[in-house]
Amino acid sequence: MNIAMIGTGYVGLVSGACFAEFGSTVTCVDLNAEKIERLLRGEIPIYEPGLDDLVQKGIKSGRLRFTTNLPEAVGEADAVFLAVGTPSRRGDGHADLRFVEAAAMDVARALRGYTVVVTKSTVPVGTGRRVADLIKETNPQADFDVASNPEFLREGSAIGDFMRPDRVVIGCETDRAREVLRELYRPLFLLETPIVMTSLETAELTKYAANAFLATKITFINEVADLCEKLGADVGDVARGMGLDGRIGKKFLHAGPGYGGSCFPKDTLALARTAQEAGSPVRLVETVVQINDRRKGAMAGRIMAACGGSVRGKTIGVLGVAFKPNTDDMRDAPSLSIVPALQDAGATVRAYDPAAMHEAEPLLPGVTWCGNAYEAAKGADAVALITEWNEFRGLDLERLGGVMTQKIFVDLRNVYGPSAMREQGFVYRSIGRQ
Ligand code: UDX
Repeated sequence: MNIAMIGTGYVGLVSGACFAEFGSTVTCVDLNAEKIERLLRGEIPIYEPGLDDLVQKGIKSGRLRFTTNLPEAVGEADAVFLAVGTPSRRGDGHADLRFVEAAAMDVARALRGYTVVVTKSTVPVGTGRRVADLIKETNPQADFDVASNPEFLREGSAIGDFMRPDRVVIGCETDRAREVLRELYRPLFLLETPIVMTSLETAELTKYAANAFLATKITFINEVADLCEKLGADVGDVARGMGLDGRIGKKFLHAGPGYGGSCFPKDTLALARTAQEAGSPVRLVETVVQINDRRKGAMAGRIMAACGGSVRGKTIGVLGVAFKPNTDDMRDAPSLSIVPALQDAGATVRAYDPAAMHEAEPLLPGVTWCGNAYEAAKGADAVALITEWNEFRGLDLERLGGVMTQKIFVDLRNVYGPSAMREQGFVYRSIGRQ
């Protein structure tokens, strides 16, 4: 099978490299010539464990190519994936479909022979049909079907998620298109991965519903965590006790500073707006959005409270600024609310992140960026752990405490145990625990 992958952002690049690994020939297309040149040299513009190797391997095998020549790539393809950006539109929270629509029209003009045009980006319900209409208008002769194949990749473990998914969701309406997509995912038959075949609209909505449910699960445990603090309970044990019930499931019950990233904030907002406009509001999701926004704002207050109510003139060492570990992604990261609030309250912030400092620098002005956790803690009145990178799990606490002015540790990811931290002489605050 020949695939054209339009857009070499996160989704496009990971999906392209993985489809090549599955045995298809994939041509990744991007308008940005410089980006394509860098990719041809094997330089990966994003941080994703394992992606470098997979891209190199794909290039060497001849099954992964990069080009700016969209017509050529699309002309040869059995399936064209639209994996362009769908940012939140300013003001109304809707997904901005400018890039999808432009790509659909470019693709329409280049189609040769029967082709399935697949939306891979998370797109509002109805986009598949809109893409089909645009292609028909632009090129009435085109022989094509549209399909929706939402991705469920987590940053930091995207390759594994693609290669060993819990399920693949495919929305399309003809047997011919179904066959093409089945063929692309053939290697997963061995793993007996369920393939959920649906209509276009159903596939599109499934993606939003899945993300909104996970965001709700996180928000639920975050509120339970706050309640635990008031009632003298332990959120880790509550989550374990709940999660072992197979109907609930133990994943995504880790209390923290609020969810961030490129998907949950954007998708929950878009679902809430779509539902309002359809006259069937999802009030639960609307509330989740509000609670999560407020939570991120409230986290700086916890750090201030741990410092006795004020951080004026104090130094705070921040460990981790990315929205989660194993990524350099800063989109909607809790640190973007926490760090400026600390600075506004008069604190000096020193910070270290293993991968995201380059991305974070322009977003968090006034921060002193450090080479490691101990440097960030140097002279600090308190350390705040915001992102649970593995290298923060095994800190030499004696060394850390030794370089701090006061031994206050605010652990927003519950990485450490309260009693062990107290034994080390720290004033220790975490989430939903005593
Ligand atoms: C998510 C979905 O998991 C994925 O299926 C979808 O395709 C894209 O969005 P991602 O944003 O990469 O993936 O990260 P994920 O690991 O899901 O975490 C999202 C946010 O939730 C992070 O800010 C994380 O810290 C937070 N989170 C996650 C929690 O606070 N607690 C948890 O238990 C799990």
